[in-house]
Amino acid sequence: MKDTAPQTIFLKDYTPFGFVVESVHLTFDLSPNATRVASRIAFAPNPEARDHRFFLHGEDLKLIRAAIDGTPVSPDVIDEGLTCAVPEGSFIWECEVEIDPQGNTALEGLYMSGGMYCTQCEAEGFRKITYYPDRPDVMSVFTVEIKGPHPVLLSNGNPQVQGKGHAIWHDPWPKPAYLFALVAGDLLAHSDSFTTCSGKEVELNLYVRAGDEDKCAFGMEALKKSMKWDEEVYGREYDLDVFNIVAVDDFNMGAMENKGLNIFNSSAVLASPETATDANFERIEAIIAHEYFHNWTGNRITCRDWFQLCLKEGLTVFRDAQFTSDVRSEPVKRIQDVIELRARQFPEDQGPLAHPVRPESFQEINNFYTATVYEKGAEVIGMLKRLVGDQAYAEALDLYFARHDGQACTIEDWLKVFEDVTGRDLAQFKRWYSQAGTPRLAVREEWDDGTYTLHFSQSLGASAATPEPQPQVIPIRVGLLGPNGDEVQATRTLEMTEATQSFRFEGLGAKPVPSILREFSAPVVLERETDTAERAFLLAHDTDPFNRWEAGRTLARETMMDMATSGAPAGAAYLDGMLAVLRDDTLDPAYRALMLAQPSQSELANALAEAGTTPDPDAIWQASETLALALAQHAQDVLPRIMAECRVDAPYRPDPDQSGKRALGARALALVTRLDGGAQAAEQYAVADNMTLQLSSLGCLLAAGKGEEQVAAFYAQWQGDRLVIDKWFGMQIAQAAPDRAADVAARLTEHPDFNWKNPNRFRATLGALAMNHAGFHIADGSGYRLLADWLIRLDPVNPQTTARMCSAFQTWRRYDSARQSLIGAELERIAETPGLSRDTTEMMSRIRGAE
Ligand code: TRP
Ligand code: ZN
Repeated sequence: MKDTAPQTIFLKDYTPFGFVVESVHLTFDLSPNATRVASRIAFAPNPEARDHRFFLHGEDLKLIRAAIDGTPVSPDVIDEGLTCAVPEGSFIWECEVEIDPQGNTALEGLYMSGGMYCTQCEAEGFRKITYYPDRPDVMSVFTVEIKGPHPVLLSNGNPQVQGKGHAIWHDPWPKPAYLFALVAGDLLAHSDSFTTCSGKEVELNLYVRAGDEDKCAFGMEALKKSMKWDEEVYGREYDLDVFNIVAVDDFNMGAMENKGLNIFNSSAVLASPETATDANFERIEAIIAHEYFHNWTGNRITCRDWFQLCLKEGLTVFRDAQFTSDVRSEPVKRIQDVIELRARQFPEDQGPLAHPVRPESFQEINNFYTATVYEKGAEVIGMLKRLVGDQAYAEALDLYFARHDGQACTIEDWLKVFEDVTGRDLAQFKRWYSQAGTPRLAVREEWDDGTYTLHFSQSLGASAATPEPQPQVIPIRVGLLGPNGDEVQATRTLEMTEATQSFRFEGLGAKPVPSILREFSAPVVLERETDTAERAFLLAHDTDPFNRWEAGRTLARETMMDMATSGAPAGAAYLDGMLAVLRDDTLDPAYRALMLAQPSQSELANALAEAGTTPDPDAIWQASETLALALAQHAQDVLPRIMAECRVDAPYRPDPDQSGKRALGARALALVTRLDGGAQAAEQYAVADNMTLQLSSLGCLLAAGKGEEQVAAFYAQWQGDRLVIDKWFGMQIAQAAPDRAADVAARLTEHPDFNWKNPNRFRATLGALAMNHAGFHIADGSGYRLLADWLIRLDPVNPQTTARMCSAFQTWRRYDSARQSLIGAELERIAETPGLSRDTTEMMSRIRGAE
């Protein structure tokens, strides 16, 4: 715990480190409470630096000894590191420290999980392992020696010695310390191999604890697919003799791309048909791909400083999305990503946590692993690709890899390769990296005797992060449909650069219907005043699958907004449109399932807030329930046929085809449950032989206020399987009625299996509460109070996870004054907790803002 006031770090203050690190040798002598780490580091003056003060980061380290060129020294140990007088030229720094992995509950640095040692060093965890210049622009070659009684001892790179109780690993590729990793434990390997495009054989291992061996096969296949895809699509070959993945139960995020030794949250890699849902399989495939792709976009080319985080994350998210669209369905992936973007990034960009894709200051970098950096960062790359075209994008990427391999780079370096390849000036485009907030794009049409004109105007609200917003470059993909639904103008990319701009289409026989922002070609809020007839027309006819879905989504949102604000009945255009979609069995079931999914209650709250209305969580919940019932009644006759069509008789496979059917079947079952009170859901639960069906039928029962018996049976069946029990916790809270959610969550926090120090279990419980919109925002404040109580309790144990979960409160200013004062009081209570971590302190001051 720091008692000093938090320091703010600025992008503009960047200076290179005074030394280069020529090599690093580390020796670990493992012991749960007293691990010894000896380091031998070769430093030389950095000719590119002006400041040659010798400062090494270090936190929670017990310094045992230090020496320079073999002579003992007594460094000045100061807060967050040490300094020492050093010789003029090159020298060897040696030191030994003692650390306490067992006592490390923050899950950053070297820690223990389920009896194994593991590490998490991004962003600034290596300084909890030894004294080091822990910054991404200091890259070096590491040799790591591990001593410990464990059968498996792993680090980065290639193994040089693997003996009993002793191993040496050497990583030939220079890397920053955040990519360092070490694992030691009694683990089992699921092994395979991959032959690269140049014929090198790579050994692949997925290491797990005993009992998890049967959950490895899918992850391994996903890894091989990813390796092949990166060769074929980006020309990127793997560069070591081995690639290891380790599954760990206690982990703050999804996974980590450590060079040659990826470490995964077990929820992001382990899966079997009985224990994982289709959605879990799909997420695992994407995360394996993401971490693997970091080998080039992140590891071989890394970030100069943490302000450049989107350089690796935005690009790698973009690459993993391309991979998923290629191996699954492109429109389905795009729609899922836009749903996520609106659910997570838009509220962030429109609230007190708004920050640019490349932030300009921070107190705690862990707080900037955000939807804006990751997901909006990926959207920005998608826009760049749309603007320059596929060919130029491919050439720019080739140039990026050729020019910057082995370097620590900036967004300027990234944009320069595009400028050099295309001759374009990207200065204005760069505003996507520097301005916070979601642009609003208003459009108006004009029809004049064969000439059709679209008038656009863009606006970006001023925010603390961006007080004087300037117009951005917006690629607007547009197509035009004739009155009979035929496309009269194929998709074109309009390039908007001004605050207001008009685009003309000539020679049309009749006034067309525009399909604007196809593929969701830019992360903006599109504002178009139009009637439900036009939305229904696009829902029936749009040739762009994204915009066809979007038309249905907009109809749903608009009718729900009317229902929630004026008690209007469910809109006929929506109900009829959905019925037509349900009946249309030429459409992919996965796509139909997305069409039928109602906008979430928080999406409704966002839409109301964007429209300047105070969202009422109870009214939104009511509207959502009423609409679902109306749709169920309207579609009553076709639902049995859909259920039959979606039945899968073949052995379970988590492929797009089967999982699409199960997704549509689950939508249909949810509607049927509105009519039969859960009879069919109970039948399905009884025969379910895979987790997808088991969990979807349990969810339906719980939503209908039933399922007590199944909840008990589920627990009895899965007790001891952590990942499945996480679902058991989460589902009961997610499906609880608004007036019960906080009570259910509170009761579950008293369950003997509520291991709150495990981030997955904490999120499954308190995270599920925060996502039950009406339950979390229940008027008596009990939802807010429960979450705040637990955040206060978790903060000293695990600041990183605590701070991330504070974002549940980020939308507080949009609610009514009674709720605002309840939340405000909880925020104050958190903020005033003595000894609050830097992570949570920063989140509180940003969320609460200047009062
Ligand atoms: N770099 C990781 C990724 O995007 C994520 C990451 C950052 C992370 N910090 C972390 C993972 C801390 C675990 C813990 O894949
Ligand atoms: Zn990443």
